Amino acid sequence: MTTEPVGLSVNLPSQRVMQARVGDADIAVWRGVSGKLSAWLNRCPHRGMRLSHGFVRGESLACLYHGWHYGSDGVCNYIPAHPDLEPPGTIQTTVFSIIDQDGVLWVSVDGAAGGQDLPGDSKPVRSITFSCSAKAAKDALIGSSVADGSGGELSIHDIAEGSNRLEFKSANGLNSVVVLLQQPSDQSMIAHILAAGDWSVDGMIGISRWSETVRRQAERTKNVPNSDCQDEL
Ligand code: FES
Repeated sequence: MTTEPVGLSVNLPSQRVMQARVGDADIAVWRGVSGKLSAWLNRCPHRGMRLSHGFVRGESLACLYHGWHYGSDGVCNYIPAHPDLEPPGTIQTTVFSIIDQDGVLWVSVDGAAGGQDLPGDSKPVRSITFSCSAKAAKDALIGSSVADGSGGELSIHDIAEGSNRLEFKSANGLNSVVVLLQQPSDQSMIAHILAAGDWSVDGMIGISRWSETVRRQAERTKNVPNSDCQDEL
């Protein structure tokens, strides 16, 4: 089963939609006005427009092109050109499983999504995209230390075997930084970063700056396909 972290919950407020990628699947992730999450194949059943370009209307997502509305069950429920027509239930998107666990959005394209446990007091820091190979990004992260904003450093503590999860810990073990890695393509890696423990505002800013420094370092390596980069998801 393929479940991947596609973003931080804080970066997808209600009535917003974003694009994500899990394996080969291009995905539209959106949140209705009630906060309900949906993850769909990013292709409108009508003419194929990316649904991530659409807009949320209550508990439906409207396609940008001709405005067809799809409810949270993925079924078309309104066609603006035929307002009195009840759309056939066969007009529906491909729906994937999504959960919000400890502030991280996890999507599965082939079964029920299951996230990873994080330290109970984890707080979101940011998501940052590395425009380089997964190896270059991971090597740069593992080879770095996280400044804690008060002169101390957190060093790499845990690299789960076969997993794209890195954990840094302070010397006293009280503070930690968890990095969840997601590879949307051969030439990019997204790091979703969370901090647990007692962090000041300066400390949180320090983690964010550390991630930018590591990204620049990774993108300077020979694995870099280009130097363009993007910040927040
Ligand atoms: S392509 Fe989406 S409504 Fe036409």
